[in-house]
Amino acid sequence: MDTEILYLFKDVGDKYLSGEDICKKFNISRSAVWKHIEKLRKTGYNISAVPHLGYKLVGLPDNLLADDIKYKLKTKIIGKNIVSFLHVESTNDTAYSMAEKNAKEGTVVIAQKQSKGKGRLGRKWLSDKGGIYLSCILRPDKRPDQVQEFTLFTALSVVDAIKQTTGVQADIKWPNDIFIDGKKVCGVLTEMKAQPDKIDFIVVGIGINVNNDVHLDTSVSLKGKTGKKICAIDLTRNLLCNIEREYEIFTKKGFKDIREKIKKVSYTIGKHVQVDMYGKTYKGKAVDIDPQGALVIKMKNGKRQKVISGDVHLS
Ligand code: BTN
Repeated sequence: MDTEILYLFKDVGDKYLSGEDICKKFNISRSAVWKHIEKLRKTGYNISAVPHLGYKLVGLPDNLLADDIKYKLKTKIIGKNIVSFLHVESTNDTAYSMAEKNAKEGTVVIAQKQSKGKGRLGRKWLSDKGGIYLSCILRPDKRPDQVQEFTLFTALSVVDAIKQTTGVQADIKWPNDIFIDGKKVCGVLTEMKAQPDKIDFIVVGIGINVNNDVHLDTSVSLKGKTGKKICAIDLTRNLLCNIEREYEIFTKKGFKDIREKIKKVSYTIGKHVQVDMYGKTYKGKAVDIDPQGALVIKMKNGKRQKVISGDVHLS
């Protein structure tokens, strides 16, 4: 009922709703209306009350809440079920254990803060309030060796969402970093549970520096780049729509189209890189992303080397 009343406020936009309108619409008493309004206020919604006019929603909470993200969200799978927390250790860990307990494909876990945010290769991901920290459960009919392709189409979805929401063109540092002006604005961490030939489920975790403070030497936030506070709800909604679109393309057509789009927004291609992979170091110029999502580097001796995973340093 709280959600239904909230959505009624959102539907009428800038208009006032009288207590009587709300009573009639939901067939509830005046005191019940009052209780629901108080509950919404406690959650952080700013609802003004004016005698003879009624109630109006004038401000949303400073938190990314499931109800606000889900309002008229036009996806079929991704974000149909959203669980939002004020604080978790890691949204990826929460999503992983929910997936083990059969949570549906498309379930999204989002938190305002993480105390043990995880990055790739065992690194930490600082997760202060103001960023977006979310994880999404997928149950694809794909092989475990295709996992990199999930990271890449998710990264592409983030690049598009940043452009749609802020107008800023970001790019992808292979495989999982999103950069703006050579600094990191977002990281993607893909984890999975799999049999040797089949993925049970995938958790794609996304951390975006939105309105939070960052280390300015290496990172950038969207607020820092644009000079404006960014609407994290709009950004999240765009992101979920994009993940659904790219996931559908990937499922139906494979990686081909996604690969072409990724090459257009690659930060890595054309640059000289050093890659540490399985204890070996490769140096050369990044020249391509191959049909399986691997980075291709051309070494000094002219040989082309595929990089499946690893840490890429620009040299
Ligand atoms: C990286 O750049 O190394 C990946 C960072 C991924 C961070 C996100 S924040 C949401 C999700 N939960 C986590 O613990 N990590 C990912």
